Amino acid sequence: MVLPDKDYLDIALDMADAPDTHFGFETVPMADKQARVDGVFASVARRYDLMNDLMSGGLHRAWKDALVTAVNPPRSERRFALLDLAGGTGDVALRVVEAGGGGTRAIVCDINAEMLAVGRERMAARGRDGVIEFLEGNAEALPFPDKSFDALTIAFGIRNVPRIERALSEAYRVLKTGGRFLCLEFSSVDVPGLDALYEMYSFNVIPAVGQAVTGDRAAYQYLVESIRKFPKPKVFAQMIEATGFRRVSFTPMTGGVVALHSGWRL
Ligand SMILES: C[S@@+](CC[C@H](N)C(=O)[O-])C[C@H]1O[C@@H](n2cnc3c(N)ncnc32)[C@H](O)[C@@H]1O
Repeated sequence: MVLPDKDYLDIALDMADAPDTHFGFETVPMADKQARVDGVFASVARRYDLMNDLMSGGLHRAWKDALVTAVNPPRSERRFALLDLAGGTGDVALRVVEAGGGGTRAIVCDINAEMLAVGRERMAARGRDGVIEFLEGNAEALPFPDKSFDALTIAFGIRNVPRIERALSEAYRVLKTGGRFLCLEFSSVDVPGLDALYEMYSFNVIPAVGQAVTGDRAAYQYLVESIRKFPKPKVFAQMIEATGFRRVSFTPMTGGVVALHSGWRL
């Protein structure tokens, strides 16, 4: 496949050993990005779930439902281990555990202690703290043995990771043979008319709502900019395939606002 130059440029910036990467529209030293991302999520953690509903008009629930359907946890007592990577407050893990039977367990692994703290409180309030564990860890160097999980989800997390290829390799490593990688991420809108509307909404409405609800406009400016910098879905699918995953596919949703990427460790 012939890729436009811009895509090559973005891939180059995402290479694990590149000296620089992007933090939104800013080019920053690779070593600086994680701390900047951590600052964003520490700042918004307490209002994170509310903001998801406000920004997406509740649509993130439908996108996550599609993700959970793809995970397809067994309804029986059969053991099923999910890793919800960059899982934040545990929204996806909770949905999977609620969809699955008594043998479904989830670990939420995230680099941000504030997001995890909100998640732990939330699960305790729902009586789910026995089946969902929260663990601090970096997607680039996961604290789990090889072949530990039946499925790995990462929702709206991968574009925040400085070295995407390392995170993909780690996802592959910790999945069991036959395990499925599922990544929900913002994508590129390709519906004429909707693209202009989405652009206007992203750059004008989202930072303003972020300011009003969290007091942190910059965090939501980063959010919309980081979406634009994330590789196009076909390019990201190639990155997943290059990691070793098989039967790689993606499904655009809501006119391409998000895409659900899938790959299997076979
Ligand atoms: C937009 S939130 C998504 C949270 C959750 N998956 C959801 O859909 O509600 C992105 C999450 O990625 C986490 N994150 C960023 N860099 C990470 C890394 N290197 N390793 C693990 N988690 C990371 C952030 O701390 C944050 O909780």
